Amino acid sequence: GKSVISLDDLSIPQITDLLHKAQYIDAHRREVAHACDGRVLATLFYEPSTRTRLSFETAMLRLGGKVIGFAGAQLASVTKGESIADTLKTVSNYVDVVAIRHPKEGAALVASRAASVPVINAGDGGHMHPTQTLADLATLQSRFGRVTDLTVGLCGDLMFGRTVHSLIETLCRFGNVRFVLISPDELKTPQYVLDRIDATPSCSYVEVKDLVSVIGDLDVLYMTRVQKERFFNEDDYLRLRDTYILDEDKLALAKEHMAVLHPLPRVNEIAVEVDDDPRAAYFEQVKNGMLMRMALESTVMGDELPGYEPFENKEV
Ligand code: CP
Repeated sequence: GKSVISLDDLSIPQITDLLHKAQYIDAHRREVAHACDGRVLATLFYEPSTRTRLSFETAMLRLGGKVIGFAGAQLASVTKGESIADTLKTVSNYVDVVAIRHPKEGAALVASRAASVPVINAGDGGHMHPTQTLADLATLQSRFGRVTDLTVGLCGDLMFGRTVHSLIETLCRFGNVRFVLISPDELKTPQYVLDRIDATPSCSYVEVKDLVSVIGDLDVLYMTRVQKERFFNEDDYLRLRDTYILDEDKLALAKEHMAVLHPLPRVNEIAVEVDDDPRAAYFEQVKNGMLMRMALESTVMGDELPGYEPFENKEV
């Protein structure tokens, strides 16, 4: 089995196959209900989560497998000083696959090196969140029929936003994306992510502070939360948290086909009134997140889905 720390661990054909597999799973839920019978997933969550943990777990249960783990490290032996490596050397004896979320960048990589089963990064600090990107890609695919040739605005905390970093890096690999990076000066996109766009001839970016002046150009608006847990200083958080609030007035300036994405949880950055707008795609993202995790979990364990023909074997 193969660990997935960043989506760079998967080839574009493998990611494309996962997108097709998730669609297949959605249409054949009963057929796949025993694909992972006898398997066990561990969810090791050292940081809060609603969607990621519950969807990893639901994904395994819907494939016939079982789940163990902890949500919040306070009940685990890390409180006694146990290292991530020792935890993974232990848990590898119990399960077939691990999903780990940790507040420190690089923790999932450390975990994968210690583990003898596949480890999936469920978010490592402000670094990467590859399975969120799989959900995002599935949502773009279902809204536009493609993940390329799009103008993608990303708005809010682009510095600590791990979902943003994973998504930009992966869209660069597919190519032909114009990024509009909308953030306050204090929360601009890290240089290593900008370097990735610069290294991709078919992609480009602009950095702006104002959402209203660019919203009309966008095919996709990916909103993000200003993340209180990543700030060292509460005053900075309070000053920046409500910089961008998407409401119906701003949405009136956007294209009719624009899709609004958000990894969730949201705080104030998307007004609840937007939920009823056909452009709101963030609860579709949630559903796609579970389907993509079903596709990924079964794939990293090498479990075939009855009736599924791998994408490579199909005529395109
Ligand atoms: N999108 C996401 O990672 O949500 P949770 O923090 O609730 O898992």
